[in-house]
Amino acid sequence: MKETVVSGIRSTGKLHLGNYYGAVKNFVQMQNDYNCYFFIADLHSLTTHPTPADLHGNIRHVLVEYLASGIDPENSTIYIQSDVPEIAELYLYLNMNAYMGELERSTSFKDKVRANPDNVNAGLLTYPVLMAADILIHKATKVPVGKDQEQHLEMARTFGNRFNRLYNSEYFPEPYAFSYSDKLVKVPGLDGKGKMGKSEGEANAVYLSDDPETIRKKVMKAVSDGGPTEENQPKPEPIQNLFDLMKVVSSADTLAHFEELYNKMQIRYGDFKKQLAEDMIITTAPMRERILEIAKDDAYLRQVAKHGALKARESAQKTIKEVRSLIGFKSF
Ligand code: TYM
Repeated sequence: MKETVVSGIRSTGKLHLGNYYGAVKNFVQMQNDYNCYFFIADLHSLTTHPTPADLHGNIRHVLVEYLASGIDPENSTIYIQSDVPEIAELYLYLNMNAYMGELERSTSFKDKVRANPDNVNAGLLTYPVLMAADILIHKATKVPVGKDQEQHLEMARTFGNRFNRLYNSEYFPEPYAFSYSDKLVKVPGLDGKGKMGKSEGEANAVYLSDDPETIRKKVMKAVSDGGPTEENQPKPEPIQNLFDLMKVVSSADTLAHFEELYNKMQIRYGDFKKQLAEDMIITTAPMRERILEIAKDDAYLRQVAKHGALKARESAQKTIKEVRSLIGFKSF
């Protein structure tokens, strides 16, 4: 039997190149190799209190962009998390077994607390528990994610194993972060520090739906510096980030060419950024075309969401029934 894959994307905005290289790029191959569940994590997005209109608009963006990546709704299961209430039920059970100390130690929780000290809600604290429920509900073993989600996968294994021990079973298999390459990906942003992300401001991320002119403008404005002052000088973070971006979007030859110019102190950042922008445009263009096409088709989106919810619930209901029985809920 094929192994099960679960992939989730938070519905907090349009997809960027980080999401693409971290998770989305290999969806077509994945759906042939594995039994795949692709879902839109809209419950997770509630931690930031979106308005009803924003919530719906963002779910729609991610649905369209999932489909534009080549997912076939017949071959795999594509659904919206809030359409599958069994996930929220499993989240409740797993919460009984998730401890304050370990949740507070999670790196992403600490980052969120630092970024938004006025909104430290319980949903944020138990975010990794909901994520574990997303994965365990289909008993998945493989989870395509970027490097930033590695710790969440470790927590999902902890919660699944703890449930197994408590109920003396081997019910949940262990899920692992998965990528077709040997390493998990971390795509940097354009602002000179850290990863590309939706919450880091518009200028930091290149979206799959950005038009070529927008991409050129963003890349030309990316943080750089006055250039190397010595041959073979180590690169400061903003420059290393741009090279890392080139590594994901450009050919090996192009990268080697600019590495050599940098090392010889002959690099001109204007030319370098121009090339980077053009290669980003080449990467995103086919996705963008499909996004524009699919976004027009409300009837298709409605049908995909409905069909996906049915398929996902079938698998989720089976798990919940077995979990309830293991916990000891019995009908009178
Ligand atoms: P989210 O929505 O932040 O990101 C979706 C996917 O994109 C990857 N990603 C990146 N990869 C490399 N470089 C980057 N700069 C970058 N930015 C984002 C993420 O690693 C992720 O794979 N908690 C998840 C959503 C989620 C989930 C799940 C994922 C909820 N439940 C169950 C898998 C399984 C998140 O916030 O991803």
